[in-house]
Amino acid sequence: MAVEPQSTQTCVITRPDDWHLHLREGALLKKVLPDTASVFARAIIMPNLRPPVTTVDRAVAYRDEICQALLLSDAQQRSFEPLMTLYLTEQTTAQEIKKAAECPFIHAVKLYPAGATTNADAGVRDIRQAYAALEAMQTHGLPLLMHGEVVDPDIDIFDREAVFIDRVLTPLMKDLPELTMVMEHITTEVAVDFVKAGPDHLGATITAHHLLLNRNAMFDGGLRPHHYCLPLIKREKHRQALVAIATSGHPRFFLGTDSAPHPQGAKESACGCAGIYTARDAMGFYAEVFDQANALDKLEGFASLFGADFYGLPRNQDRIALHRIPREIPETVDFGEVTGVPLRAGGQVAWTVNLC
Ligand code: NCD
Ligand code: ZN
Repeated sequence: MAVEPQSTQTCVITRPDDWHLHLREGALLKKVLPDTASVFARAIIMPNLRPPVTTVDRAVAYRDEICQALLLSDAQQRSFEPLMTLYLTEQTTAQEIKKAAECPFIHAVKLYPAGATTNADAGVRDIRQAYAALEAMQTHGLPLLMHGEVVDPDIDIFDREAVFIDRVLTPLMKDLPELTMVMEHITTEVAVDFVKAGPDHLGATITAHHLLLNRNAMFDGGLRPHHYCLPLIKREKHRQALVAIATSGHPRFFLGTDSAPHPQGAKESACGCAGIYTARDAMGFYAEVFDQANALDKLEGFASLFGADFYGLPRNQDRIALHRIPREIPETVDFGEVTGVPLRAGGQVAWTVNLC
């Protein structure tokens, strides 16, 4: 990559990919898709629709819907490839996994512990009930992407990730030592250390919001529903551990925005839902973090190279330019019949992205 020394004004990097994205469907999909497709070349598309994407046929139909939406959007002149996933349930069969592994559009299977997050009620209650599918994934080389939190109400909500590592992930890695796994949207120093110490086929994604914010942001002068996501943003020492590993050039930690659009009213509610919308300015946010850490030279690996290498996919050929030019972030964005509120609404992001 080309980075100008000292107060860098521009950096040109390989076009990035987003390894964790929620695109939804219908009118909302059409509205949010250009925010991602105009910058990122590919994205892992999360399957937590209602009903969830539990079969290959459904994943292929969902992919078709995304491709149709792309044709209608302004971003159509740029290539964008949705990388589809299946939603793991206790009913997922080994045959369906084999079919998924043979389907060129499906790249992974997502584990949602039942009830852990938005549209996770159909998820897995007891991981042992999913072993037939998990064994087939190991056999066919299909990665397991994990929402790494336990949902036991006795566990403090800030400890759910650490307890998942102890109770679920560690035994799973013993039982299925060759299964490729990604801990999605990691939030703690514990997860950083665990993944770092793990084998080459264990990776992790990191969101922009977990790099930018600590948990004070949820309670800054009042309750801040637009900073509520799952896993929750944690205390400052965890944010620092995430920044340190993301900016270190470690090849098993890579970009996943977890951009999760919700209607404004569903978040600003007595029981607001979890998810932060970052797609529009994601690369600008990440550039801020890497710039602050004096590590702009490490941004390309994290955003554009390591994820592709981990998934065994070719690196992108085209490039983007990041300019140190502030960009306004609107108060609200158009989600079709409703509006949404992006991260840092009404503020600015310090970096603007251009396609080369
Ligand atoms: C995501 C969503 O809204 O789909 N929400 C979130 O807070 N991250 C689901 C998820 O990835 O947990
Ligand atoms: Zn997510």
